[in-house]
Amino acid sequence: MNAEPAIRMLPVEEAAKLRGSGALPSAPYHDPDWWELERKAVFLRSWLNVAHVSEVPEPGSFVRREIEFARASLLIVRGRDGHVRAFHNACTHRGTQLTQDEAGRRSQFSCPYHMWTFGTDGALLSAPDFERFFIDKKDCALKQVACEVLAGLVFINFDPAPRETAREFFGAIADELEGLPMAQATGFSEWTYEIDANWKTNFDNFQENYHLRFIHPRTGAQAVGEENPFGYPTHYGFSGPHRSQTLWRNPAPAPVPPSLGQAYMLAAQAAARRGESFPKTDFKLFPAFHVVGLPPNTQFTHTHWPLGPGRTRGVIRMYWIGGDDSASHRYAREFTSMSIRDVLVEDRHAVESAQRGLAGGAIPTIRMQDHEMLLRHLYETVQQKVADYLAET
Ligand code: FES
Ligand SMILES: [Fe+2]
Repeated sequence: MNAEPAIRMLPVEEAAKLRGSGALPSAPYHDPDWWELERKAVFLRSWLNVAHVSEVPEPGSFVRREIEFARASLLIVRGRDGHVRAFHNACTHRGTQLTQDEAGRRSQFSCPYHMWTFGTDGALLSAPDFERFFIDKKDCALKQVACEVLAGLVFINFDPAPRETAREFFGAIADELEGLPMAQATGFSEWTYEIDANWKTNFDNFQENYHLRFIHPRTGAQAVGEENPFGYPTHYGFSGPHRSQTLWRNPAPAPVPPSLGQAYMLAAQAAARRGESFPKTDFKLFPAFHVVGLPPNTQFTHTHWPLGPGRTRGVIRMYWIGGDDSASHRYAREFTSMSIRDVLVEDRHAVESAQRGLAGGAIPTIRMQDHEMLLRHLYETVQQKVADYLAET
């Protein structure tokens, strides 16, 4: 891992100067036409995390991913040659989906309709009575989607000719991601939720601490203090379309109930025994991917999948190295997982309420203060991507 941080972190005042302070039109948070532009300009042209390598450990292992905004069903397959590829789950004969299984292991994929059979590299291996088609098998391979593994994460890009590799897209952050525990993770817990909110409304909620003391008086009590009553981060950083922040460490956190204190301690001990060290990182990666490290034993990712202008699916994954070696380790994992879910449940009402308030257009502009500069950066980046797309097309 690099000694130099991938993103130069700036003190708040300095970082804020980069972002400006004007009001912003609110339409991008609810307008269906704008959402359609984002779908094409942002999500169909960006690198998106869809899986972890631990899900496809052996040749022939695969997972199926339904990507609604792209109207696509994808198969992420580890080939016999060890490479991980992404294919459209659509037979090249007449389109039938090859499998409805969510995951599995196969040496080949046979279409149930007329039995065209494809290899783990997507090549058409056999097809009954094929000579009547008067075509070449090599022209009938499964349709691939650009796919790259980085830091143990499988990224795809629907752009038929991505302008940059995933490594180029993440720039200097790529090295930092590869140093994180998730790159070595052997498994994860996952939970998903759907929310009546635009993907940016939902992502923004995790890009500011301004709301902490009002929405999380219970779970966020340790993150605010006398000298920092809002629990604001101390530094912010920007790298191309990506962002990061340094969270403030409260020198005198509020006491927690004894039962919670014991659970935290068990979690920390279990992690230390296993030699797990989870650095404190907080990357907001474009377009909608949040990588968070919370010492001592948690690393999780949070992806915001756009389902519509006012609907989003959140996917949270907590990565683990190794199996449970004791009941207390299992307890610590589950406890951490549920603690994070508690925080998100608290957020939900505020996020959906904000979306309802914006949806009718009654508030034509919204305002952001210095400590909401990450939201402003996402907003501006999306504007730029849409402008680039419109200029190109
Ligand atoms: S649609 Fe797949 S073999 Fe015919
Ligand atoms: Fe929150």
